[in-house]
Amino acid sequence: MNKKPHIVTIFGGTGDLTYRKLLPAFYNLMETNHLPDDFHIVIIGRQDLTTESYRELAKNWIHEHSRYKVHDEKLEEFLNYVTYFEMIFTEEEGYHRLKEYYQSLSPNACHLYYFAVAPAFFEAIAINLGKADLASNSKVIIEKPFGNDLESAGQINKTLTSIFSETSIYRIDHYVAKEMVQNIFTIRFANTLFTNIWNSDNIKSIQISANELVGVENRGNYYDHTGALKDMFQNHLLQILSIVTMDKPTDFEAESIHEKQEEILENLYIESINDDVVLGQYTSDGNSKSYRDEERVYASSTTETFVALKLGLHHPHWENTPIYVRTGKRMHKRATEVVIEFKALNNEKPNVLIIKIQPDEGVYLRFNIKKPGQGNDVQTVFMDFCQSCNYENRVNTPEAYERLLNAALDGDRTLFASYKQVELSWMFVEDIVNQVNHQDIQFYEAFTSGPHKAHELLKRDGNHWIEEEVYGENYISSIE
Ligand SMILES: NC(=O)c1ccc[n+]([C@@H]2O[C@H](COP(=O)([O-])OP(=O)(O)OC[C@H]3O[C@@H](n4cnc5c(N)ncnc54)[C@H](OP(=O)(O)O)[C@@H]3O)[C@@H](O)[C@H]2O)c1
Repeated sequence: MNKKPHIVTIFGGTGDLTYRKLLPAFYNLMETNHLPDDFHIVIIGRQDLTTESYRELAKNWIHEHSRYKVHDEKLEEFLNYVTYFEMIFTEEEGYHRLKEYYQSLSPNACHLYYFAVAPAFFEAIAINLGKADLASNSKVIIEKPFGNDLESAGQINKTLTSIFSETSIYRIDHYVAKEMVQNIFTIRFANTLFTNIWNSDNIKSIQISANELVGVENRGNYYDHTGALKDMFQNHLLQILSIVTMDKPTDFEAESIHEKQEEILENLYIESINDDVVLGQYTSDGNSKSYRDEERVYASSTTETFVALKLGLHHPHWENTPIYVRTGKRMHKRATEVVIEFKALNNEKPNVLIIKIQPDEGVYLRFNIKKPGQGNDVQTVFMDFCQSCNYENRVNTPEAYERLLNAALDGDRTLFASYKQVELSWMFVEDIVNQVNHQDIQFYEAFTSGPHKAHELLKRDGNHWIEEEVYGENYISSIE
């Protein structure tokens, strides 16, 4: 493989992210021949483990989470890349040992550091890398969330950029790397069918939903201080929104794409926080726990597990198109999708384009034809391209983390956020968080489509959340 020699060092190497996403992603990159010939993964941990005992642990996780079937001899080959290095990452001493260790692995390799830890540790690790002279000419991947608010994001960024150059910092939002989010660029810019009509003259509304069936699970402690606005909207949903509405970049280099996305984030507005933001929290459906009964959640918590917003864009192409965004836990179904509702001609049903991001991946298009037979009655039909319907395609679709890690090894920052994007997103969200009244939270029963008010939000404009019966995985399994 024609890639530069690399040592990837994972801080937080004994955490959930490393086990479930990072190691399986690297394994799959080996399967697809995307790793450099000279390659090492150094796992940083404070636990009393050896390389051998860590490799034993890693085996099970890779078996469980790899998208390719794992073959024992391939896995052994992969695990040879992985070594465990015990140190406390908040103490400088270990970094000097680490420097010596690198010499023994591959003295001239490029370094890629992965901060798979809570944001509170980002600065300490960066500062210690700097002190041990390990930061120059190295790349660093920063997990989300990039801070907990505007102030902490600014502070983290100030420290990081005093140690690493901006072009060495890779800020992750793994939603951006999902196959169908990347596909939005192609759908928009490679089809005359869409490219010239992607504006307010032709598009009545844009809807972006990220609904989950699960509740907070074991993340109560974190989630109760965060809520849906900060956990999902600030990063994933604003990223998707900016990709759906941005102007075509002059080229597909990182700077050009970031510039167009930033333009969207700078011009986003909410007309009325009171009327256009709906916060919700799930209650029990009789069998499931209510949010307030979840572990490590305050019994009288007003944290939102659901948010719906109506947004507008001061932009020549989007002056009159409402953008509705919602995300919630314990919803009626698991689906992340973008719905483009076109303006209707005469009294016909409007054309609808749905970009299905997860768990089904595909594109659905609704249009009108003549009803067969005598006369000219109109019938509404659809075409549904299902990318994830068969096993082979699923294997062909790289996981978001594979794409991100591969891009970082190649030095390609297109899929990673600029600090300006992070900053603009935090500014927008903080403005909402500071003004919204959490006492006005709307309760919704688990496994329903969210609070009544979230439906009223669209009804007011003569719109509704569009949820088509799309043919995806469920359809395939139902006909088998
Ligand atoms: N898990 C996911 O799917 C996911 C997805 C997106 C983003 N993220 C983000 O990724 C980051 C890591 O998440 P995670 O789920 O992997 O967390 P986690 O399971 O709690 O793992 C945290 C890691 O940090 C280490 N650590 C914590 N405090 C430490 C300390 N004081 N000194 C040394 N090591 C310490 C832990 O070591 P020990 O094992 O020794 O405790 C562990 O390796 C977080 O910022 C999270 O928001 C995670």
